[in-house]
Amino acid sequence: MSRFRSEVEKASRERCSRIVLALDILEPSKDRLYEKALWVMREASENVCCFKIGIPTVLKLGLSDVSRLVEEAHDMGLPVIMDCKLGDVGHVNKMMAILYFEAGFDALTVNTLVGFEGGLDSVIEESKKRDRGILPLVYMSHKGAEETFGQTVLSKDGTARKMYEVLAERVKRWDVDGIVVGATRPEVIREVRDIVGPDTPIYSPGVIFQGGSLRDALEAGSTYLIVGRAIYLSENPREESARLKKILST
Ligand code: XMP
Repeated sequence: MSRFRSEVEKASRERCSRIVLALDILEPSKDRLYEKALWVMREASENVCCFKIGIPTVLKLGLSDVSRLVEEAHDMGLPVIMDCKLGDVGHVNKMMAILYFEAGFDALTVNTLVGFEGGLDSVIEESKKRDRGILPLVYMSHKGAEETFGQTVLSKDGTARKMYEVLAERVKRWDVDGIVVGATRPEVIREVRDIVGPDTPIYSPGVIFQGGSLRDALEAGSTYLIVGRAIYLSENPREESARLKKILST
């Protein structure tokens, strides 16, 4: 098990929380964005088991300021996922992965459709060398994901399969630290859980603002729920994160 995976589990146990806080905060100036992100992180830190930062925050703040936020998170005892959905060819993916790992990130999301050989193989190897995590997408949360992750494909033996089933079987062989399946389709979570087995953490974004239900996703087999706007746009991120954490633990 990677250090990333055991740190999320530890934080989840200690805080009785399955919530990953997504920080996609928009502020006009870099300083205000940094201060707001740090404030939300501190307010919610007792009620979440991990933070997730996306590309907009990196573009606005720059990697060195983002790295300071990652350090703050580590001081709070929480790991940080970079939601970069790596999707280029291998040598470029590896360059980006190294930059994110050097900035302190504990795990990266990757686009499974890129494939393993010459695509994600070097990134997975790099993550293992550094004891970090890789989280491949198996089914995204938005409507249009049906066009790709949900399409019917022919497998090698000629049988018709759903793309996400094929992807779930494939990532199982990659020995990763978790997978991403949107919370908006509990029936897909259930099928993917059957394929990957009980030990692979499933991270599910798409609750509340995108229409997914925390409890339905949990009951279908999600391990961690990714929540962004419902917490960072609320007037009181501390109370809201505590309320959502409770929904998952009762
Ligand atoms: P909200 O504000 O909708 O934010 O709670 C959700 C967060 O999750 C990310 N997101 C996804 N990430 N696969 C992912 O890897 C997905 O299918 C997906 N859907 C949403 C989004 O970037 C935001 O940070």
